[in-house]
Amino acid sequence: MKKNKRTTPSKTLNPLWGGHYAKGPAEIMAKINASIDVDRQLYAQDIGASKAHAAMLAATGIISKSDAKAIALGLDKILKEIVSGKFKFSAVLEDIHMNVEQRLAELIGDPAGRMHTARSRNDQVACDFRLWVRDAIDALDVTLKGLQKALLYQAEKHSATLMPGFTHLQPAQPITFGHHLMAYVEMLGRDRARFEDCRKRVNESPLGAAALAGTSFPINRHMTAKALLFDRPMANSIDAVSARDFALEFLAAASICGMHLSRFAEEVTIWANPAFSFVKLSEAFTSGSSIMPQKRNPDAAELVRAKAGRLLGAFTTLLVVMKGLALAYAKDMQEDKEPVFDAGATLQLAIAATTGIVNDMKVNKAALDKALESGFITATDLADWLVRVANVPFRQAHHITGKIVRYAEQKKSTLDKLSLKEMQQIDQRITKEVFSVLRVDQAVKSRKSFGGTAPELVKQAVKDAKKRYL
Ligand code: ARG
Repeated sequence: MKKNKRTTPSKTLNPLWGGHYAKGPAEIMAKINASIDVDRQLYAQDIGASKAHAAMLAATGIISKSDAKAIALGLDKILKEIVSGKFKFSAVLEDIHMNVEQRLAELIGDPAGRMHTARSRNDQVACDFRLWVRDAIDALDVTLKGLQKALLYQAEKHSATLMPGFTHLQPAQPITFGHHLMAYVEMLGRDRARFEDCRKRVNESPLGAAALAGTSFPINRHMTAKALLFDRPMANSIDAVSARDFALEFLAAASICGMHLSRFAEEVTIWANPAFSFVKLSEAFTSGSSIMPQKRNPDAAELVRAKAGRLLGAFTTLLVVMKGLALAYAKDMQEDKEPVFDAGATLQLAIAATTGIVNDMKVNKAALDKALESGFITATDLADWLVRVANVPFRQAHHITGKIVRYAEQKKSTLDKLSLKEMQQIDQRITKEVFSVLRVDQAVKSRKSFGGTAPELVKQAVKDAKKRYL
């Protein structure tokens, strides 16, 4: 049996906590322990939070003003090094926090060692992570708004464009294309509201909770909270370092949003299918086949449809990591960042691609008109007419309409092309007035109940939505 390979202590002992260690970690320990490849993404938040912490330490007299100044200047320099790609990240230093602190020691010497006073990596990482999620929420709000804007543009343009509306993916009732798109504007509005609501709970500062119990130094947690634009410091130091529900809420909201995008993506793939041809996508958002020359595959939409799975995977991952974890911090929690970072980037990409698809898609009115001819899509209007004008109870009206539909089916006719005589043979009470509801345009125009599909309402809904969302 080979013994566990050990690393060379001089090269691998962590200078920040290796005081009571004589030997380096096993190679595989170093590998599983290091998180720098993932948490380097927190560099800006880490540096910002450290600056706020150092300024507070100076203001409360815990460190000297000159040390705080040296720390701030050193941190600014490190930020520049990282942004310009000159910074050398080291796995021996495990994570972003220790990489930054060690570099600071190289740059400014002793004062760097005072930066970590009254702080632990436990509250530090919770703070950085909250700042990252807050930034991600703010960025997502902008892109989601952009997608709503694209949908609103198409919805306005197609506020009177008729199409079959589906239930069970079977022709149900005629609607307008604009009305259908506006459904997504509303879903995205709720997605934005979910993120906004989540942001309230993200936006509390864990900084100063230290390892778990607070600190005996006379720190001012309100001051760092304010400097970092948090609403308040978190009330309980143990909760501050243990809580990850803020990240879970973010992932839950991201999963729901991804689900909405995937439904739209699925509709686009259906609409773009030549059997439907409701919309056409350009070469910009499709790809050809290497073997079938006729193909125009809606790849972007298919990928957006799939990303929902990845987002839900991220949520599941973190929820399972957190389940059953005793308070306070445990290293398990280092696994929190990868799913959240991935979800943030994935959702951004999916929203951007969807916005591209919405802008790209050309509506094929002829195909929509043709689709409206099948499925006896004004059958509900006929039944409603029997109730409203001929005073027939709805259940009976439903039955009579069913018979007329069957007759039309046999005759291979649409409802509005049947003669009055033919309809009267099925029910005497039908008069020529009925022709005022059998055409799809009439049916759509008549659906004027609040939130309905009548073109004038869709136009108004677009106007209102612009005020509410843009
Ligand atoms: N890299 C760690 C993480 O992301 C930072 C916190 C480490 N804390 C500790 N007590 N070892 O979770």
